[in-house]
Amino acid sequence: MEKFVQVENVQMVFNTRSGRFVALQDVNLNIRQGEFVSIIGHSGCGKSTLLNLVAGLTEATSGVLLLGGREIAGPGPDRAVVFQNHSLLPWLTCFGNVYLAVERVFGRDEGRATLRKRTEDALALVGLSHAMHKYPHEISGGMKQRVGIARALAMQPKVLLLDEPLGALDALTRANLQEELMRLVAGAGTTTIMVTHDVDEAVLLSDRIVMMTNGPAATIGKILDVKLPRPRRRLDLTDDPAYNRCRSEVLKFLYERQHKDAA
Ligand SMILES: Nc1ncnc2c1ncn2[C@@H]1O[C@H](COP(=O)(O)OP(=O)(O)OP(=O)(O)O)[C@@H](O)[C@H]1O
Ligand SMILES: [Mg+2]
Repeated sequence: MEKFVQVENVQMVFNTRSGRFVALQDVNLNIRQGEFVSIIGHSGCGKSTLLNLVAGLTEATSGVLLLGGREIAGPGPDRAVVFQNHSLLPWLTCFGNVYLAVERVFGRDEGRATLRKRTEDALALVGLSHAMHKYPHEISGGMKQRVGIARALAMQPKVLLLDEPLGALDALTRANLQEELMRLVAGAGTTTIMVTHDVDEAVLLSDRIVMMTNGPAATIGKILDVKLPRPRRRLDLTDDPAYNRCRSEVLKFLYERQHKDAA
């Protein structure tokens, strides 16, 4: 397998007031270019921690993370993150939030008109053209999440890092955005790592599903290959035995973990 994102023997320890807390231990994962990988696991197991390490926002206590063979030493425009808690700048409009990112990535080579067009296109993609000039406090939680997605997509990153990006959305918007996301990352060949709690979403979108054990010292418990042909259509899959096998395998993993913990 050609490795694009490499996570090798990663350990993440937090120093807390009550002492050392080992969040991640022995995490090893290789991701191909263009692959779509979901990370699933119980709340607090370390999914966001792992995503932040790939984003370069935090540094592993030990082990190494590589992107295209080079060590990840900090954040960069080659990786765009959609955070779990939509992190928009409150003093900028939706347009302004996306424009800022677009300008950072393309501002050296492109004029204002092109940058504006990129911004407007990204907001149109997530259905927010009408709210472009509103401020974050004037829009709903789901809309804020969509601005975050627009911002990340507009950067045309090599790696898209999504932390429960569709969590706060109603079912219909969610389904639409899942399909849109699938189409976009497949079209652009973007390598994607997405944290989700939604088993159906994970199976529908992913090439592989990484299932994490519960913390402390969480690690990868199991990786499931989702061998469903693409393009995938939600409606065709509901009766597909292969789809349902994948689904129940993930559910079984999560359910058994819960029980082991409770025991
Ligand atoms: N900065 C920090 N300092 C101390 N402990 C932390 C820090 N960040 C995360 N942790 C701890 O590490 C563990 C993993 O946290 P993380 O946010 O990665 O979980 P998660 O899997 O994303 O959970 P959720 O699904 O609820 O978002 C938790 O026990 C959390 O309390
Ligand atoms: Mg999280």
